[in-house]
Amino acid sequence: MDNFKFHASTEMLFGKDQIQHLPEVLARYGKRVLLAYGGGSIVRNGIYAAITDLLKDFTVIDFAGIEPNPRISSVKRGVELAKTHQIDVILAVGGGSVIDCTKVVGAGAYYDGDPWDLVMDPSKIDRVLPIVSVLTLAGTGSEMNRGAVITHEGLQLKKGTGGPNTIPKVSIVDPTYLYTLPAWQTAAGSADIFSHLLENYFKKTPDAFVQDRVAEGLMQTVIHYAPIALQNPTDYSARANLAYASSLALNGMTGAGKGGAWSVHAIEHELSAYYDLTHGIGLAILTLPWMRHILNEDTVDKFVDYAVNVWKITPSGDKFATANAGINATEAFFKRLNIPLTLKAVDIDSSKFEVMAQRAVQLGNLEKSYVPLSVDDVLTILKACQG
Ligand code: NZQ
Ligand code: ZN
Repeated sequence: MDNFKFHASTEMLFGKDQIQHLPEVLARYGKRVLLAYGGGSIVRNGIYAAITDLLKDFTVIDFAGIEPNPRISSVKRGVELAKTHQIDVILAVGGGSVIDCTKVVGAGAYYDGDPWDLVMDPSKIDRVLPIVSVLTLAGTGSEMNRGAVITHEGLQLKKGTGGPNTIPKVSIVDPTYLYTLPAWQTAAGSADIFSHLLENYFKKTPDAFVQDRVAEGLMQTVIHYAPIALQNPTDYSARANLAYASSLALNGMTGAGKGGAWSVHAIEHELSAYYDLTHGIGLAILTLPWMRHILNEDTVDKFVDYAVNVWKITPSGDKFATANAGINATEAFFKRLNIPLTLKAVDIDSSKFEVMAQRAVQLGNLEKSYVPLSVDDVLTILKACQG
C-alpha cells in the first residue's frame, strides 16, 4: 500500500445522554456560540429545546434553515452572522448538510473574499472557527472528517472542499437522536455509508488487507442493521451501529494508503447539483450500472472478493457468475431499503446527461478512478440508470 497520514482528530462522545457534556465541551472554545441547524427537524423532535436549555450561560446566535445539499448563499449568511456576532465556536446540529455548511462558514469567518473561493480552491482555507457537531443523521461521516460539499445554486455546481482545520473538534453522537429520521433518509444515509466503503474498496492497491477487511465488516454492519432501523426506527442497536459505521466509513481509515479517485460520488454530485436529489439515493441508483459497466477480466477478482467476503456467496467455478451474484445481492439490498433504482423514478430525464458526464469526469478526476471513466463511459452509466 502507499504511504499515508491518518489523522482523524475528532473527539467523539458516543451514546445516550452524551449531550450533557455539551456545556463543558463548548466552554473550551468560548461563550459565543453559533447554533447551526436545518429546516426544523431538531425543533420538532426536542433536540433544539434540550440544547438551548443546557446553554443558558452562553450567548447563542441562531443560524437556522440550512438546506439539504447546502448552498453557498447559506454559507454566506453564516459567515455574516459569525463575523457580526464575534462567534467563538460553531455548534452544528444536524446531518451532513448542516455540518458541511459550518465547515466553510468557520473558514469564511477568517477570510475576506467570497467564501465560494474556499470551495473552488481548498488551499485558501487556513484558520477555521472550532466546530462542535451533534449528529442527527448517519451517512456522510462529516462528523469525523474534513470534507464539506457545497452547491453554488447560480452555477448549479456542487463541489467538495476542506482543509486540516475543518474537521470537527468534538462530535456528540447520540443514537436516540436518529429515531425520528424518515425512512427515506435512513435508507439514503445507509446507502451513503455503503458507497463510501465501496469507493475505497474498489481501488487498484493490491495489498490493503487491513483496510479491505475493515471495510467488509462495516458493509456487513450496514447490510445487517439498515433493514432493522427501517422496520423499527427506535431500535437502539441498529441506530448505534449505523452511526458508528458512518463515522468509521469516511474518517480516512478505509481509504488510507489507497490512491486514485472515487468513481460514483462525482457522478452523483452532478445529479444533486442539477436536480437537488438526496445524495444517498443518487448513489444507490448509480452503483449497480457502474459495477456492471466496470466488471471485466481485470476487475473480476476484486468483485469475487466482494461477493464472497461481504455477501457470503459460495464461489462457483465461474468467476463472473460469482461476481455477478455479488452485484445482484447489492441490488436486492437496495430494493429491500425501498430505494427506487432508476432515474425515471426520481423524475430525472436525459436532457442534462451530456453536461453532467463532462463535469463529473473533470471535477472528479475520473480518469484516475479504479477503472478510468471517460465522458462516454459516464454517459453509458447514466443511460443504464434511466429505467
Ligand atoms: O433540515 P432538517 O429539518 O433538519 O431535516 C433534515 C433534512 O431534510 C432531515 N433530518 C436530519 N436529521 C433528522 C432529520 N429528520 C428527522 N429527524 C432527524 N434526526 O434529513 C434531511 C437530510 O439531511 P442532510 O443533512 O441533507 O442529509 P445527509 O446527512 O445525508 O447530508 C447530505 C449532504 O452531505 C454531503 C452530500 O453531498 C449532501 O450535500 N456529503 C458530505 C460528505 C462529507 N462531509 O464528507 C461526504 C458525502 O459523500 C456527501 O457528499
Ligand atoms: Zn457520500
